[in-house]
Amino acid sequence: MNDSVLTPVIAIDGPSASGKGTVAARVAQALGFHYLDSGALYRLTALAALRAGVAMDDEARVATLARQLPACFDAGEILLDGEPVTEAIRTEECSVGSSRVAALPAVRAALLDRQRAYRQKPGLVADGRDMGSVVFPDALLKVYLTATAEERANRRHKQLIEKGMSANISTLLQDLQERDARDAARSVAPLQKSADAELLDTTQLSIEQAVQAVLDWYQVRLAAL
Ligand code: DC
Repeated sequence: MNDSVLTPVIAIDGPSASGKGTVAARVAQALGFHYLDSGALYRLTALAALRAGVAMDDEARVATLARQLPACFDAGEILLDGEPVTEAIRTEECSVGSSRVAALPAVRAALLDRQRAYRQKPGLVADGRDMGSVVFPDALLKVYLTATAEERANRRHKQLIEKGMSANISTLLQDLQERDARDAARSVAPLQKSADAELLDTTQLSIEQAVQAVLDWYQVRLAAL
């Protein structure tokens, strides 16, 4: 039996704020699988560059930071050099920075082995932009999870308000559309639905319905082995 069956991967890709992180984490929990938030690695790289005063477009130096990233994921907390940065990597500055460093081929290459190392028994749910196309091309199930830009901006707005932060919906929508365009237009591993991925449009779905859809597809894949 090959690794795609022995250590199965569920790859969930999609645009910013589509809810794929929440869905992926819950699918992982339901199956008792490991979970990889690959976007966090790009965000950590951007934060490391900001802190080291390295320009986001200095490909060689940012790639070195990515390769040596002293990061660890510990019970829901993300640490950089031992310091909790779970909130710090979600700032707008880090979001924009991560989208810029993610466009650099040497940075993507530097993070490849680290991402693949998360593939451990009994299995892995990985979310990002290129989980199914580049990092785990032999994933047992690939899902492209999306929602309209308006719905994604609404969800982000609600999240920020709930956290007591101020937010403007039209600015959020514009930021999302700019980030989508940058993620889709880059030359390496652009954001796109691959032909072998299931399309999951969550515009009209609850989180529970989206999680169930992924679990149902997974059962179909297992039954077909
Ligand atoms: O999923 P996220 O918003 O946390 O991702 C942050 C940035 O990293 C986003 O601009 C896209 C990029 N990214 C990527 O290029 N490839 C991945 N596998 C994950 C994220």
